Amino acid sequence: MERPKLLPVHGVAMLDFIARDWSLVESFKARPGDVLIATYPKAGTTWTQEIVDLIQSGVDVEFCKRSPVYERIIFMEWTGINFVMHRKGVEVLNDMPSPRTIKTHLPYQLMPSSFWDNDCKVIYIARNAKDNAVSAFHFNRMNKLHPEPGTWEEYLHRFMTGNVCWGSWHDHVTDWWNMRERHRILYLFFEDMKEDPMREVSRIARFLESPLSEQQLREVVKLTSFPVMRDNPMTNYSTLPTDFLNHSVSPFMRKGDVGDWRNHFSAAQLEAFEQDYKKKMAATDLRLRDSLPCRPASLPLLLNWWNEEQQKEEVETVEVKKWGTFLQPRSFSSSLWPRGCVQEKHNSGKKEKRGEGEVPIRSGLSVCRRQGEFGIASRHR
Ligand code: A3P
Repeated sequence: MERPKLLPVHGVAMLDFIARDWSLVESFKARPGDVLIATYPKAGTTWTQEIVDLIQSGVDVEFCKRSPVYERIIFMEWTGINFVMHRKGVEVLNDMPSPRTIKTHLPYQLMPSSFWDNDCKVIYIARNAKDNAVSAFHFNRMNKLHPEPGTWEEYLHRFMTGNVCWGSWHDHVTDWWNMRERHRILYLFFEDMKEDPMREVSRIARFLESPLSEQQLREVVKLTSFPVMRDNPMTNYSTLPTDFLNHSVSPFMRKGDVGDWRNHFSAAQLEAFEQDYKKKMAATDLRLRDSLPCRPASLPLLLNWWNEEQQKEEVETVEVKKWGTFLQPRSFSSSLWPRGCVQEKHNSGKKEKRGEGEVPIRSGLSVCRRQGEFGIASRHR
């Protein structure tokens, strides 16, 4: 299967088949009552789609298994006729009764104006740039309906220049952010959803004017947790042929984590990325988090992978509350991750111990969870 190329639509890089059908997308007629889920690709679209479908159904679990998520909430600008959809997104939507829930990855400036004319509600989800780039890289590897990403280094460079599907991440997140008060936009963050899904699901339900009981909220959070969605054929994209979505290259439900970027960025890549990020984001007050503070209950797990007795003793003397007292010197090698634990003595100027040798003290670091293990991450980047 030949992979598509990118073509510009008003200066934004777009999959060629979407660019060729642009007039169809541009003239799409939104209706009053339509709800839009808008994201930069790989920011948590599917997760939000499932949450919204469950809320809108009154948490009818069986009803939400009626078909795969991409058939329940239609991808507006997807004009490729293929295994995903047998008709173009806009055509399916035109035949659909109201109220409709619609998915898009369009940047704000390419949105059909009918959404604003009809005062439609939008749920926008942003994800920190580094994790978003990593997720998109792996998705491009496994998805033959996207251009070949090349190496991580090559893809990262293109991501930074905005020459990737749906254009610049920086423009996408900031343009939607700037418009959040002009329209009915609920602007959410992937990281907040990971941190406190009850709170964020509840916000979505209130925004949709379908408040849920405590029990229903718990049910939605459980059903939309990463492991449940990973194993649910209606949400994990396993219903599509593997010759174009090849989960053995990288599963669609890959990790669902905050901070996986640490396993991909070299120190040089990180420096270049951060410099470029600062410039591009200088004019906005939008702030995204690329790591999450860790939960106190994780001490026993942390101790599990601490295999030197002396280090164990040191850790055991630390109160569980003080999660900020463990850190790893900034290293981007995943092999160093579990061994790099040290005891932090905030700004004391002393050295700390770690698995191998000694490292200078840094402050403002915190422990964070990573796939059932615990690693240490910088909180202030
Ligand atoms: P990773 O590749 O980092 O694992 P989208 O739906 O916009 O394509 O985004 C896909 C990303 O969201 C993938 O990220 C996927 O694993 C993650 N994801 C999907 N469902 C999730 C869930 N319930 N909890 C956490 N992450 C989820």
